[in-house]
Amino acid sequence: MYTDKVMDHFTNPRNVGEIKDAAGVGEVGNAKCGDIMRIYLQVENDIITDVKFKTFGCGAAIATSSMVTEMVKGKTLDEALEISNQAVAEALGGLPPAKMHCSNLAADALHEAIKDYIAKKGK
Ligand code: FES
Repeated sequence: MYTDKVMDHFTNPRNVGEIKDAAGVGEVGNAKCGDIMRIYLQVENDIITDVKFKTFGCGAAIATSSMVTEMVKGKTLDEALEISNQAVAEALGGLPPAKMHCSNLAADALHEAIKDYIAKKGK
């Protein structure tokens, strides 16, 4: 029921952990199941130079978290803000319909982390 890409990112998630003194931190909870994702960003000259995540959630949530960190590294903040939950799910080759709500964490947490960075910078 899961694609090979989902299984790969679930069993071997990229960029797990946290960044001490991160430039921006975003946390979102999934209203449907109570799972939580937190994402940490390092930013230089409006480019995301490092990103890490911690997700307390199901396999699909972990896979989408891992995928969004790969998609966003090296992107500008504006480019990162354009990444949608749908785009993350598509990058994984899709999710089963019953698990689409799990993909809501990834881009939302990313966007929250960017907003946190912008607020801290006073931009
Ligand atoms: Fe909670 Fe998937 S069941 S994020």
